[in-house]
Amino acid sequence: MATLQMQDIIKDFPGVRALGGVSLRVSSGEVLALCGENGAGKSTLMKILSGVYPHGSFAGELTLDGKPLYFRGIPDSVRAGISIVHQELSIIPELSISENLFLGHETSVFGFVNAASEARRSVDLLNRVGLNVHPDSNAANLSVGEQQLLEIAKALSSNPKFLILDEPTSALSPKEVQKVLQVIEGIKKQGVGCVMISHKLEEVFEIADAIAVIRDGISISWNKIHETKTEQVIREMVGRELNDIYPEKHRLTVLSEPILEVRNLTTRVVKDVSFSVHRGEILGIAGLMGSGRSELLHSIFGTGPKIQSGEVRFEGRRFICKSPVESVRQGLALVTEDRKRLGLVLDQSIQENSTLTAMCLGQWVRAMGFIQPAAIRKRAEELFELLHIKAPSLDAITRNLSGGNQQKVVLSKWLMTLPKVLFLDEPTRGIDVGARGEFYQLIRDLADQGLGVVVVSSELPEVLGLSHRVLVLSEGRAMGEVETLTATPESVMRLAVKTKKDDWKETSA
Ligand SMILES: Nc1ncnc2c1ncn2[C@@H]1O[C@H](COP(=O)(O)OP(=O)(O)OP(=O)(O)O)[C@@H](O)[C@H]1O
Ligand SMILES: [Mg+2]
Repeated sequence: MATLQMQDIIKDFPGVRALGGVSLRVSSGEVLALCGENGAGKSTLMKILSGVYPHGSFAGELTLDGKPLYFRGIPDSVRAGISIVHQELSIIPELSISENLFLGHETSVFGFVNAASEARRSVDLLNRVGLNVHPDSNAANLSVGEQQLLEIAKALSSNPKFLILDEPTSALSPKEVQKVLQVIEGIKKQGVGCVMISHKLEEVFEIADAIAVIRDGISISWNKIHETKTEQVIREMVGRELNDIYPEKHRLTVLSEPILEVRNLTTRVVKDVSFSVHRGEILGIAGLMGSGRSELLHSIFGTGPKIQSGEVRFEGRRFICKSPVESVRQGLALVTEDRKRLGLVLDQSIQENSTLTAMCLGQWVRAMGFIQPAAIRKRAEELFELLHIKAPSLDAITRNLSGGNQQKVVLSKWLMTLPKVLFLDEPTRGIDVGARGEFYQLIRDLADQGLGVVVVSSELPEVLGLSHRVLVLSEGRAMGEVETLTATPESVMRLAVKTKKDDWKETSA
């Protein structure tokens, strides 16, 4: 059995102390969950452990079974038996699965890549993560869940004793999450020590043996999993008592015409779906994976399957989607679920990222008649505050933000386009619990100011907690709507698993 330890780690970036004294320990055959708010320092800590930040660029000590480790770079950490799956997926779609697996460490003999042995090892590795695909097939065809499994297989290719997983499940559906958790369970049984970062506390409690919490770059607690509770972990993460994170419910009295009306919409994916959204209203869309939730939003916005029949009306007029750009100009915005392609220019500042789209499309000119840089900056600053983006200022470079905070910049970018109707597709993936509460309140406030909101989420408590009404889809069809004042998760699930023929199928949630 081996034990890996980090002691009093301190890491500074220009102007920012990311870590101010963190210690943790993980042993073979154990899963340690690492939890903390967006920007707490989790990814930075794991980059130190995996040699991304070399010895000398931080203070404190790394030891393996008591012996100090000095990593000059990633290869040194790999040699010591440590492997990492980073928060951002790194699969290259143009390459085959096995090329992706061995990228950077091809098994070469006298400089030639040994194709036969690579093929054998590919099959082994893919089996280990339960990924049933041909090693020669194109990586572009993998779903996000499969890509995540491939990332894990890739990390296993160096036969690590310790595996670090930075938010391996944040972009996955409940079914895919279960698969990844099973794979981690298997890896652990083979004696590998795992450190897993996650914002999803249910899965942390499902898989971890121990849980370490860090806040603002400092170690707060370390507990065996059965000696702690969700509420305690949340309290330690946010540093205060957090009660209900959902805004207070109230029945919406709708007086006006709907701002967005969808009638009998049919595409390749959805069939005959109708719904409407009023100003001030938050409509949730629930359904299992593959029920067509995201595709529905994308089709209306202009980035999804073509509309075959049916009608969309926006502000009382027939809305024919010509392009996403046109949709934005008309007052629609879509925050997508795709965490890999956030649509940010990482080398630009937060300010540039949050205002560029709005400026290019002339949203502010249209709204005010002329460009007012001061007004735009002011709104960007307000959103920066409201969304609690953790960065020194609006002028910070986006690349230097933590994953969750980059996510918030994406949100601010869309809010800057002054939408009248906002589509949110899995908006809180990778966002910590405390920030979620603030985010829900922000969406509710925007709705109260007259915005119409449509939110798709796989998390039932989220759709129910945030929306006024929920439309439930199953296999591309609308199965019914529920009022969230009276609905229960069960009533939504019952509709979500209903099929056209009214029979039942297995649920994935
Ligand atoms: N290269 C860098 N340059 C400057 N600051 C950085 C850099 N990398 C990280 N930071 C800062 O260090 C802090 C910790 O970031 P880190 O990515 O470790 O957070 P995290 O806990 O992983 O958050 P999340 O849950 O959002 O992924 C943040 O304030 C971040 O802005
Ligand atoms: Mg991170």
